[in-house]
Amino acid sequence: MRIIQVSDASAGAQRAFEIYEAALAQGIKVMGLATGATPIALYDRFVASALDFSNITAVNLDEYLGLTSQDPQSYHYFMQQHLFNHKPFKQTFIPDGASSDGQQAARAYDKILSQNPIDIQLLGLGRNGHIGFNEPGTPFDTTTHLVNLTPSTIAANARFFDEPAAVPTQAISMGIASVMSAKKILLMAFGEEKATAVAATVNGPVTTDVPASVLQTHPDVTIIIDDAAASKL
Ligand code: F6R
Repeated sequence: MRIIQVSDASAGAQRAFEIYEAALAQGIKVMGLATGATPIALYDRFVASALDFSNITAVNLDEYLGLTSQDPQSYHYFMQQHLFNHKPFKQTFIPDGASSDGQQAARAYDKILSQNPIDIQLLGLGRNGHIGFNEPGTPFDTTTHLVNLTPSTIAANARFFDEPAAVPTQAISMGIASVMSAKKILLMAFGEEKATAVAATVNGPVTTDVPASVLQTHPDVTIIIDDAAASKL
């Protein structure tokens, strides 16, 4: 694992931006993308830049089950707002959270992933060490699957919803095997509330109790953290 420690999230976004600048110059074709608070500053930099994504296929990690793509809380909507409305991509894929058959939607997404092998996968980090919506206990060999979100993740997501009861309890997520199939992985984590998960990811045992710890076994992982997130290393 290559660790890049920076003073704050803004500096982290800048470092990540430079990694993408170089990767695009090298001709990558498929970018795995994430939602959540962490990548927003990076997407802002993409939007403000002259970078050209028109030959890039984007595949997102996950989507809530039960929300349509027009729902402002859906990850489809998030990606449109923060990136896709501003920068044309060749193709964009996000799991179909509006499907009445979540299992079928997961299988369909696996097919998309097999046809579009990921060059560089962007990850945020859950406070419990989750990546995508792969919660603690998820086997490392999972591909795209339906997830029952844990109470801590539902609580963390509640900040984006008007009322706690509106927070979805299920999602469709790329699995850990799907994430690990990416040629390169870039994980970003900022803030003191990520420090325990960062320490377990980097220094802890490789265990399904901390899904991100599996990244220790991937040959090309870069982790960008700020001083606060690094405080327990
Ligand atoms: C989002 C995702 C999640 C988040 C994680 C951190 O697509 O897959 O794993 O990356 O929950 O969320 P933030 O960035 O909001 O702290």
